[in-house]
Amino acid sequence: MNTTVASSNNYFTANLQDLIKYPTSGIISKVLLKDNNSQYSLFCLAAGTEIDKHTSTRNALITVVEGRGNINLEGKDIALASGVFVFIPANVSHAVQARENLAFVLALWEHFSSKKVISQQTIDLVKSTAPILKQHGQKITTRMYEIMFHNYPEVKAQFDMSAQANGTQPAKLATAVYSYATHIDDLEALKAMVDKIAHRHVKTHVLPEQYPIVGECLLQAIQDVLGDAATEEVMTAWTEAYQILAEVFINREQHIYQSALQS
Ligand code: HEM
Repeated sequence: MNTTVASSNNYFTANLQDLIKYPTSGIISKVLLKDNNSQYSLFCLAAGTEIDKHTSTRNALITVVEGRGNINLEGKDIALASGVFVFIPANVSHAVQARENLAFVLALWEHFSSKKVISQQTIDLVKSTAPILKQHGQKITTRMYEIMFHNYPEVKAQFDMSAQANGTQPAKLATAVYSYATHIDDLEALKAMVDKIAHRHVKTHVLPEQYPIVGECLLQAIQDVLGDAATEEVMTAWTEAYQILAEVFINREQHIYQSALQS
């Protein structure tokens, strides 16, 4: 169950005890309050339920209402019991176990300090590479997968290798990179594309920590294919641009992973 009972336009009050309802196994979560930046949910975990280790790109706060359990924060165990309050900064890994039926309020809010602003210089430099990306996009992405599968063979298992062999996946990535280069100053226009790719990423279990791998290989491929046109300035701009795009995907995918957990 995943029900919103209030929005932040109105005041809201509830007796949490009245809202607690445990499933026979697993989790029931109820969104109490939600807006663009934050979400407050009541989680009710049946005894024995475990939430595997994961990270959130948002800051999180757990306030235990009743029951007993454990939270492991980056390897450190903390006992959960009525009244315990745990703050989990964005990107810190954590896992939860319910030893008894366990109810807590989870507050999530955006970690704004991590949001980067794209400089005008970066926008101009990245846009200036768009014609080259249009012409050589697939050469760049084919090279990027070649580098990645050579240097990080462990990621191969997530990919459909026939889509590599027939060129469809490098072509899709090339289209995405070109679209990003042309819309770097209007990320709203990329929403539908980001959404589609993010869902595919979640299906193939892409994780935040894998973004630097793709970044390193993509930047190397851009440099290999652009040759002399890959000046230091252009490469610095693409490094910054990639980090921003990676953050957009990581945030979107985190929301999809979290909604799957709550439904
Ligand atoms: C900003 C960086 C990235 C961009 C622009 C990007 C782009 C794309 C695109 C366009 C697709 C095709 C989606 C579709 O079929 O509709 C895709 C699929 C995929 N991406 Fe990414 N991606 C990025 C980062 C990553 C990372 C970090 C990984 C982790 C290894 C990854 C792994 C995958 C996988 C496994 C698929 C499915 C491919 C298949 O079915 O063979 N991507 N990505």
